[in-house]
Amino acid sequence: MRIGLLGCGIVGSGVYDIITDKMSPMVKNFEIAKVLVKTPEEITKPEMTNNAEEIFSDKTIDTVVEAMGGIHPAYEFITRALNSQKNVVTANKAVVAKYIDEFTALAKANNVVFLYEASVGGGVPWIKALRQAMRIDEVTHISGVFNGTTNLILSEMEEKGLSFDECLNTARRMGYAEADPTADIDGIDVRNKLIISTSLAVGKKVLAEEIMTYGIRGVAECDFEYFKSLNKHLRLFAESVIDEDMYCCRIEPTLFDVDAPEAGIKLNYNICSLYGRTIGTLKYIGQGAGKFPTANAIVQDLIDIDTKNTTLPEVSFDKNAKCEMTMLQGRYYVRYSAQCAQKIEDAFRGINFTKVPVNGAVAFVTEQIPTITIHDRIESAGVDLSDVFVARM
Ligand code: NDP
Ligand code: HSE
Repeated sequence: MRIGLLGCGIVGSGVYDIITDKMSPMVKNFEIAKVLVKTPEEITKPEMTNNAEEIFSDKTIDTVVEAMGGIHPAYEFITRALNSQKNVVTANKAVVAKYIDEFTALAKANNVVFLYEASVGGGVPWIKALRQAMRIDEVTHISGVFNGTTNLILSEMEEKGLSFDECLNTARRMGYAEADPTADIDGIDVRNKLIISTSLAVGKKVLAEEIMTYGIRGVAECDFEYFKSLNKHLRLFAESVIDEDMYCCRIEPTLFDVDAPEAGIKLNYNICSLYGRTIGTLKYIGQGAGKFPTANAIVQDLIDIDTKNTTLPEVSFDKNAKCEMTMLQGRYYVRYSAQCAQKIEDAFRGINFTKVPVNGAVAFVTEQIPTITIHDRIESAGVDLSDVFVARM
């Protein structure tokens, strides 16, 4: 296999190392033929180029690995590679979430393979597990902790009392965070991963605006103090339920009892779960971010292409299904500053809630309500989202 590698940052350099250092006998016939870098100043090896055309027009390159990130020019490069009859493997969940249906169709039309295992769960073999489960079962529930950066922040704030910024800096230093880490903090990265997973399970491309999303931007020390008093752990949790032709998806900070598997997920680890009628619940745990775990997932895809491993069912996105936002419910913890207390409490009129003791702030816990209601009520309060923190109990 002759590979054109687009991008040689954290993930791309991991792929480069595994292949050129021959870390596995399965890659002994793999060769990184060309590496695309952005500028001529970044060219440090003979195989490097800053001209993408050199890769697309090289007929001896059969497979392209995209590890640049972002939508443009990743979209154009993936399209160009598929149209040049090259297999494509990518870790880029942003571009896959947006164009999964288009890339899948384009790969089929060009008789090549398009794989994206590393785009969800980093080193966790999740996409393959999901597709394998779908050989027998309809998957009716997908859930998990799908972001290493926010998981590191939550678990280290909780366990070591470190500040949000200290933890975020660690995640950046370790190469876990996105180029723009607001994508991690605000749940956008998890949303891309939930779009990919749920679209595969439903058989229809799920839209970003269909996913009810809260991130961890507003979390504070006082929240952890209160959760500790309940003996619970906070995780940024993603969930989709699928009932024949209906689905509902949410991403939100969620509390777990100490003995729940999710509570034990720390640092850059992810947990990815599914439910199918005959298999029941399956849970996969591993490093969701980082150079080698992510590169490992990319190289696994390359090995599948090289060995023509076609045991997984074809994916399609032509099902007629619709998003039904009221399918998911919960009891919600809402913490806010004294300044916006009136607005928040007015917005929750008609919903039963109980005030709870939180140091230096005001907080309540609602009765069981549809998840969409919490979004509607917080939005109608018209307060700055950095003044409110919401978590599901
Ligand atoms: P990095 O920023 O470390 O690497 C991206 C590399 O691509 C950089 O070297 C960048 O160059 C280069 N690049 C960007 N645009 C171009 C371009 N137009 N032409 C040539 N080179 C380009 O990011 P990561 O390696 O962390 O992430 C890469 C992808 O993998 C992203 O989609 C990310 O979401 C995904 N991913 C990352 C994981 C991780 O743990 N880091 C885990 C799972 C997925 P420059 O620095 O000059 O901009
Ligand atoms: N920024 C992502 C994370 C990278 O922290 O999980 C892995 O997808």
